[in-house]
Amino acid sequence: MSKGIYIKTFGCQMNVYDSQRMADVLKPQGFTATELPDGAELILVNTCHIREKAAEKLFSELGRYRQIKDERAELGQKTLIAVAGCVAQAEGEEILRRAPFVDIVVGPQSYHRLPEMVNRLGLDRQKTVGPQIDLDFAPDAKFDELPANEANGPSAFLSIQEGCDKFCTFCVVPYTRGAEYSRPLADVLREAKGLAAGGVREITLLGQNVNAYHGDAAGRAANFAELIRRVAEINGIERIRYTTSHPIDMDDDLIAAHGEVSQLMPFLHLPVQSGSDSMLARMNRHHKIDLYRAIVAKLLRARPDLKLSTDFIVGFPGETEEEFQATLSFAREIGFIQAYSFKYSARPGTPAAILPSQITEAVKSERLAALQGILEANQRAFNEECVGRVMPVLFDRPGRHPGQMIGRSPYMQPVHALVPEDSFGQILDVRIAAAHTVSLGGELATPVAHAIATATQGEASV
Ligand code: 5AD
Ligand code: SF4
Repeated sequence: MSKGIYIKTFGCQMNVYDSQRMADVLKPQGFTATELPDGAELILVNTCHIREKAAEKLFSELGRYRQIKDERAELGQKTLIAVAGCVAQAEGEEILRRAPFVDIVVGPQSYHRLPEMVNRLGLDRQKTVGPQIDLDFAPDAKFDELPANEANGPSAFLSIQEGCDKFCTFCVVPYTRGAEYSRPLADVLREAKGLAAGGVREITLLGQNVNAYHGDAAGRAANFAELIRRVAEINGIERIRYTTSHPIDMDDDLIAAHGEVSQLMPFLHLPVQSGSDSMLARMNRHHKIDLYRAIVAKLLRARPDLKLSTDFIVGFPGETEEEFQATLSFAREIGFIQAYSFKYSARPGTPAAILPSQITEAVKSERLAALQGILEANQRAFNEECVGRVMPVLFDRPGRHPGQMIGRSPYMQPVHALVPEDSFGQILDVRIAAAHTVSLGGELATPVAHAIATATQGEASV
């Protein structure tokens, strides 16, 4: 009998990937995903610990699910509640103490064992086994035991590397995701081929430090550039992206690949965090701002149309006005076309959390607003620059209007256009006609007669 699983995902793309894999691993037991938690036999919260009040958010979310569990119990139905991800890893037993109605606590490296845990608990109300907790730390076992990653649309995530040894002083990832681990090259290629065979045309390679990849390739280590080149050889793979990378791992091989591998999209997420050398040192980023500048210059020589996105943190302990100004001017200098900016949030157990000179919330908010003003202007300017250009767009979602679909440009901008019905999963050239704050509108550069026949003028933009 089919059973419902409702998954709520917080955090990064790695968590989105993990959530999908958790659904895959439970499929053989008859679980199918539901849109709402209400009727689900299993409610799973995949958590993120990277910023602010992660635990509080989780407990308020869990309160909601407890109510559903109680209501279903009155109808004689059993509901299992599971907590996965980085908060599970960091808080472990504490979750069961504060929320004793939780049945499963599973860390990011152990979710391949979810089926056993669910089995032990059972959905039979008579069965009363205590809560299951698994916070093991062995990513290789996980990847070996997961079922095949099935294609689910034209774009797919593929996790190739997990964990981090960099220990930026603000970050919990090295503690929640553990040491760097790279999957063997053959395993990654097998997964990529399977995805391509299922109709995937765009693969985003995922890792907390994806460009530190050094996976085993028959006894030697393959680097990230080699992996990209091998994925590019797979029939059907027309777009390759990767995230998240660290500047110190942008080696010359990888930069050269940006110039030589045509499937590698000209858009790179390369977190910088701050524009000030003294700040980067206190953050333990292992590089100065000039290294970032030099990488950008080399990348642009290899691939002149490449654009960057980044992450910034404002209000790191001790951040002076001068250091903050350096961040603002760096944001202007590079002209990032997209960026995520965050107020520093003290994470328990990280070195920066106990530094004496914490910045007040008011100053953090002020600085964030100033930085975001620049970042938004950069993004708008680039979107406007795109008007009149022809861009290849991978269509992967229906739009709001009849005949309209939404796709992604090489720069990840959502693009709305009127397209033929069979355009889902196709890469089509679109002439950009309108720029909005975060999206673009356009029309097919080589219109297909039957699609355009019914199109209403002006509907290409939203
Ligand atoms: N406070 C604020 N932002 C953080 N990030 C990581 N840790 C923290 C923190 N403690 C941001 C960084 C990182 C992104 C994923 O999250 O910018 O690149
Ligand atoms: Fe965190 Fe730094 Fe590792 Fe990125 S490189 S995951 S910010 S410790």
